[in-house]
Amino acid sequence: MRIIVTDSYEEMSKVAARIVAGQLYLKPNSVLGLATGSTPEGMYANLVKVHQSVGLDFSEVISFNLDEYIGLDKENEQSYYYFMHKHLFDHVNIKPENIHIPNGNPENLEEECKKYDKLIEAKGGIDLQVLGIGQNAHIGFNEPDIKFEATTHKVKLDEETIKANSRFFENEEDVPKYAISMGIKTIMLAKKIILLASGKNKAEAIYKAVYGSVRPDAPASILQLHQDVVVIVDKDAASLLP
Ligand code: F6R
Repeated sequence: MRIIVTDSYEEMSKVAARIVAGQLYLKPNSVLGLATGSTPEGMYANLVKVHQSVGLDFSEVISFNLDEYIGLDKENEQSYYYFMHKHLFDHVNIKPENIHIPNGNPENLEEECKKYDKLIEAKGGIDLQVLGIGQNAHIGFNEPDIKFEATTHKVKLDEETIKANSRFFENEEDVPKYAISMGIKTIMLAKKIILLASGKNKAEAIYKAVYGSVRPDAPASILQLHQDVVVIVDKDAASLLP
């Protein structure tokens, strides 16, 4: 694991965007694994800037998002489909057919999950996976005590996650209770991973991810066993690191 500590959220976002841009310069047809949430918003804003200013090319990029709420329509402003279009896809030249986000309203959920993993494999696997982290050290929506060998599957969100995500909804009751998420195995199969975190409320999760024992009750700890992970954290999120 390489750990980069930045002075601010803005700097964290720039460093992360530089890594993604570097990946696309080296391999324009990269398969990107993408995250939603507040943390990568700044990274996406920087990527849009690089696209608009120097033409960073997304025309051959293939993307797979980590997760989606079950039960929200694509048009719902809280859906991850909506988020990704608002923050990235509507502003770069990615082809719509190359965008993949789990379908949160599938006819057959099990089939949808299997199809998602198969498609990732068929596209050659994820070259670079972007991750945020939950306060409970979840990655994707792999909540504590998840099976490390899980592939894409339906998850029940933890109370803590529902509370944390209620900031985006009018009422806590509106937060979906279930999601579809890439599993830990899907994530670990990515060739490279960057993990982003900002703020004191992520410090404990980052400590567990980087120094804690590798245990399912801290899902992000599994990343210690991956051969190519860069952790990019601002100094608040790094505050518990020795
Ligand atoms: C989002 C995702 C989640 C978030 C995590 C942190 O696609 O997979 O694991 O990365 O919940 O969310 P924020 O960045 O909003 O603190």
